[in-house]
Amino acid sequence: MPGFVDQIEPILETALSELRAARDLAVLDQARTTYLGVHGRFTALMKQLGSLPKEERPDAGKRINTAKGMLEATLAARRQELELAAALPSEPTDFTLPGRRRPLGRLHPLTQVTEDIVRSFRKLGFAVADGPEVEDEHHCFDALNTPADHPARDTQDTFYISATGAAGVEGEDGTRPAPKWLLRTHTSSVQIRVMAKQPPPVRIIVPGRVYRRDNADATHNPTFHQVEGLYVDRGVAVSDLKGTVEFVFRELMGPETRIRFRPHYFSYTEPSFEIDFSSPLTRKMGKEWLEIAGCGMVHPQVFENVGYDPEIWTGWAFGFGIERIAMIRYGIDDIRLFYENDLRFLRQF
Ligand code: DAH
Repeated sequence: MPGFVDQIEPILETALSELRAARDLAVLDQARTTYLGVHGRFTALMKQLGSLPKEERPDAGKRINTAKGMLEATLAARRQELELAAALPSEPTDFTLPGRRRPLGRLHPLTQVTEDIVRSFRKLGFAVADGPEVEDEHHCFDALNTPADHPARDTQDTFYISATGAAGVEGEDGTRPAPKWLLRTHTSSVQIRVMAKQPPPVRIIVPGRVYRRDNADATHNPTFHQVEGLYVDRGVAVSDLKGTVEFVFRELMGPETRIRFRPHYFSYTEPSFEIDFSSPLTRKMGKEWLEIAGCGMVHPQVFENVGYDPEIWTGWAFGFGIERIAMIRYGIDDIRLFYENDLRFLRQF
């Protein structure tokens, strides 16, 4: 068959320029089928080899194979180029533009205030302690010298929970009545849990959530937060309490803050006080003094209840509401704003 090998070169040239010019993967694939497919032009050439005179076959076969090799290499290179182009953005891109910032959240104002309180007490060597929100009457009331018939229980009515199978607290007669479970009304229960577990001295604060059966209004919510403090050592005095509270409140509410103690009653402290404070912030709210916390010297009976010797150990305790601090600090007039998760409110802090 004269001129057989002369056919190869022109087909190769056209094929190569078609492959190189293919503007997308579909066109490229089309070109591949045209030349290299089962019914493609090179396949057809291969089939004709058999009809060549014997002596011409090796040379012709070699040429076809070389041409096919070139086609395949060109095909692969062009495919890579097109795939890369397809992966790039179709619009022109300015890679020098700054990245898109992910909007970051922020801490809830109550968390911020809690962290500030903890930070101040840490400077004085207080450790953070924790306790369960589902508590029993023993830790929440009885061990805090507040027996079932005590009028103070009425002011801290809460949500009771029915639970069975839990271990009770051993009474004097050695029996273990099943505990009555409730949502803790104050963080004072953690005083008992910590003292029952470790020997004195104790220096802790306890931030946490508490519950009361209050109707929600501008100053009440059935769930709110407190910080409890407890300091037990030898020879602890009211002046230590006052100095500590003053230090922390000045850090929290500004250096002009003054505090005063008013006599009060709590069943787990004796003597007991309410703490008032005054600062430019209270004046902004139209008052010189605002009540902010309860405190006192730990009652000897409480020490007895946890197995501390009241002849050796003395201590003080306090408790205050975190919402109240945050409201005064930021001038917030409705406690419910803290729980509504309205971003317009939360973004201000
Ligand atoms: N538990 C009290 C309350 O919830 C606050 C309190 C008062 C805590 C006196 C104390 C304390 O530790 O000594 O209102």
